[in-house]
Amino acid sequence: MASARKIIIDTDPGQDDAAAIMLAFGSPDELEVLGITTVAGNVPLSLTSRNARIVCELCSRTETKVFAGADAPIARKLVTAEHVHGKTGLDGPELSEPTMALQPGHAVDFIIETLRREPEGTVTLCTLGPLTNIGLAFQKAPDIVPRIRELVMMGGGFFEGGNITPAAEFNIYVDPEAADIVFRSGVRVVMMPLDVTHQLLTRKDRVKRMAEIGTAPAKAMVEMLEFFERFDIEKYGSDGGPLHDPTVVAYLLKPELFKGRDCNVEIEVQSELTVGMTVVDWWHVTERKRNAKVMRHVDADGFFDLLIERFARI
Ligand code: BDR
Ligand code: CA
Repeated sequence: MASARKIIIDTDPGQDDAAAIMLAFGSPDELEVLGITTVAGNVPLSLTSRNARIVCELCSRTETKVFAGADAPIARKLVTAEHVHGKTGLDGPELSEPTMALQPGHAVDFIIETLRREPEGTVTLCTLGPLTNIGLAFQKAPDIVPRIRELVMMGGGFFEGGNITPAAEFNIYVDPEAADIVFRSGVRVVMMPLDVTHQLLTRKDRVKRMAEIGTAPAKAMVEMLEFFERFDIEKYGSDGGPLHDPTVVAYLLKPELFKGRDCNVEIEVQSELTVGMTVVDWWHVTERKRNAKVMRHVDADGFFDLLIERFARI
């Protein structure tokens, strides 16, 4: 059997980030988690670093290396999303404080050192939050960029618009300068925008199947999702909330669930009105370089089948 694909998960948990990490932990044959790096986003860094360790402990994966990263965007004040995720970022279940320690050292240095150490083209970056850590790593060590196998991100939106402003999706909006560095870097990007994630609703029948797994991690996840979806149900009038971040990990496990095309993507960093917008040249109306594979469609039933199958393995 082929060896597991090496990944670093850069994240700001977040209930949907937690679901993505759980999907990776439930897939040890395919994915080796070299480390989890945290960033300020949904909640401040101290909480995202706490939450990442809570998820590791919940899944009995306390050997996982968790590094704290940037506590603020490269050039702006931090914007958080407690209105979606609750005060802690993981509101919903009752969770105990983590006992496992954070690793010494900064997430940015861990990313750089890992990419320099591992054979070229073997490490995939999975980004589930603002791109601050990655932008800083690329600035500090541009030599790592060609060493990356692929950067798969949850971020952006185009036909679907934005979710934090009419034009911008949260992860890109929080640190547009970092996103700009990433999209200009030449790294191979796969982008999971709102156009995809809004097709993945936590419908009652799907959450019920998760609850039927019956394990402690599955139960905690169900309670997280029940909290998380209330905001989007009210906002969109939809049948459940969109499950954003697990798309990144699902793509590594079953790319055939997703359909998209290679496009040019540029980030708006100047306009006050549209800052953080991902300008996607879906119709190839410019000659600009196709720097990302932008996804637009997903097999939602296949996605939830995968999620439930893997959650049951934890
Ligand atoms: C993204 O923003 C966060 O609130 C979620 O965790 C996800 O990464 C969706 O816009
Ligand atoms: Ca996130």
